[in-house]
Amino acid sequence: MTTLLTGIRKLVGARTDSPLLRGDSLRILPVIDDAFLLIENGLIADFGSMQRFHQKYKAPDFRKIIELDNAIVLPAWCDSHTHLVFAGSRESEFVDKLNGLTYAEIAARGGGILNTASKIQEISEDELFIQSWNRLEELKKLGTGAIEIKSGYGLTVESELKMLRVIKRIREKSVIPVKSTFLGAHTFPAEFKNDHQGYIDKIINEMLPVIAGEKLADYIDVFCETGFYSPEETEEICRAGMAYGLKPKIHANQLHASGGVQTGVKLGAVSVDHLETMDEDSISCLSGSSTIGTLLPNAAFFLRMAFQPARLLIEKNCAIALASDFNPGSAPSGNMNLVVSMACIQMKMLPEEAINAATLNGAHAMELGNEVGSITVGKKANLIITKPIPSLAYLPYAFGSNLIAHVILNGEII
Ligand code: NIG
Ligand code: FE
Repeated sequence: MTTLLTGIRKLVGARTDSPLLRGDSLRILPVIDDAFLLIENGLIADFGSMQRFHQKYKAPDFRKIIELDNAIVLPAWCDSHTHLVFAGSRESEFVDKLNGLTYAEIAARGGGILNTASKIQEISEDELFIQSWNRLEELKKLGTGAIEIKSGYGLTVESELKMLRVIKRIREKSVIPVKSTFLGAHTFPAEFKNDHQGYIDKIINEMLPVIAGEKLADYIDVFCETGFYSPEETEEICRAGMAYGLKPKIHANQLHASGGVQTGVKLGAVSVDHLETMDEDSISCLSGSSTIGTLLPNAAFFLRMAFQPARLLIEKNCAIALASDFNPGSAPSGNMNLVVSMACIQMKMLPEEAINAATLNGAHAMELGNEVGSITVGKKANLIITKPIPSLAYLPYAFGSNLIAHVILNGEII
């Protein structure tokens, strides 16, 4: 099946190679004005200026021609950090917080992560799949074209496996690439509050062997945070996962600078995610490494925390990506358009930097840099076609408007 897009006012993210972007290169977002894009069998087959198109092709040769009216075309979002598989919602805790309750008070009543965990333990695998699949359908319409999904609300052998099997089913059915991350170490179950090693042993001896046997995960994640998992515990769990071929992608420096970044970099993690609280040592450690710092502005926004220091990280040559952190507790939205706006408005990222961080660098944070994240021959034709808008900067500027006219996934309009 051949599809041709013509009359593209701006073709954004058009590249011949797909490097991980850092420092000044993050603001370089190649654009072709008045362009065409040719799709064959779901992949990008050719692109360039309309002038080159007229020299090279005769339009009637193509099966399906979509003439665009002043639209901008860009690569679909690559959301490299989500907790998309969860049961129910937690808006009652949201209201409790508005009424003055603290996170600790809510947690003491069995709220927070443990609230979602008890819902996961009760729900059937089929029902969990349906709820999660419906969320993914919504995100696809919002332009998400590749996604990472974590477990971590199970916290028992049976429930963690239930979550991971749901992720596997989503991956098998989905038209977009899905990466799976095992986050058994999200918190400690109540019965292991005073026996951390007991639960870590369960992760290592009872969960990991089954996960590896059934090929249920690509990555291993730990919530490395004061009051949750220490850097030493994080390292022990990650190394056990690494022995089964799972690379680390860890929750680091969300609430405290408690050594998460240093642990991730030491382990050669694909990414360290959150980074709301970065001290000098964490920044210098990340700057010299190939580990990607994934910033989650929607979580900082929802929890009313200071935003991630994106400008400083860019200045210090860290490779950064943007992701949604979609989860029922700290970021109940997977809208990457909002993430990009938030990055510009609150973190002073330039539109070009934010779009690169949410596409190509997001793809690298899932090791999908050769498959998605830019307009490059041979990559999946996963694209966002905007409504007529005056400029690229209008996208993050007009936050809250839905500026997407169409989303193309694997070459098909959804
Ligand atoms: O990434 N920080 C840890 N975990 C989630 C939130 C978990 C929850 O409250 O459900 C996050 O923000
Ligand atoms: Fe998270």
